[in-house]
Amino acid sequence: MRIAVGSDHAGYEDPPPWYKPAIMEHLKSRGHEVIDCGTNGPESVDYPDFAGKVCQSILSGEAERGVLMCGTGIGVGIAANRYKGIRAATCATPDMARLSREHNNANVICLGRRILSLDKCIQLIDIWLDTPFSGGERHTRRVEKMG
Ligand code: RB5
Repeated sequence: MRIAVGSDHAGYEDPPPWYKPAIMEHLKSRGHEVIDCGTNGPESVDYPDFAGKVCQSILSGEAERGVLMCGTGIGVGIAANRYKGIRAATCATPDMARLSREHNNANVICLGRRILSLDKCIQLIDIWLDTPFSGGERHTRRVEKMG
């Protein structure tokens, strides 16, 4: 799968390991193509800029899915959901990751560096990538109502 990955400086927050490069390496090790939407270091930046890059990558067809990270996962989620066609889910538990795919057909997962361990982020990403949209009539209807 082609996956756009973006974060603000929280993705490069000490102590190491820095989450964003570790997540990109994990995705590559699973055979995915990673599109790096930045940022690429610990200098302070603005999360809407990087949420926008990931969303544009998906909306242009370059990427199929997106992974976004900020301190909480909330800021990037709010920013990403301003783009029509983006369904971004801020997830903190395995059930949230699974249900955001089964029910909401989320095309972006948002994770919090200051909320979750790196292992938990990777667990949630793997669940999220491996779970299909249910395709159920009521879920399809609700997703279609959002455009
Ligand atoms: C940056 O310090 C922090 O505000 C940002 O990463 C994010 O948590 C905002 O929602």
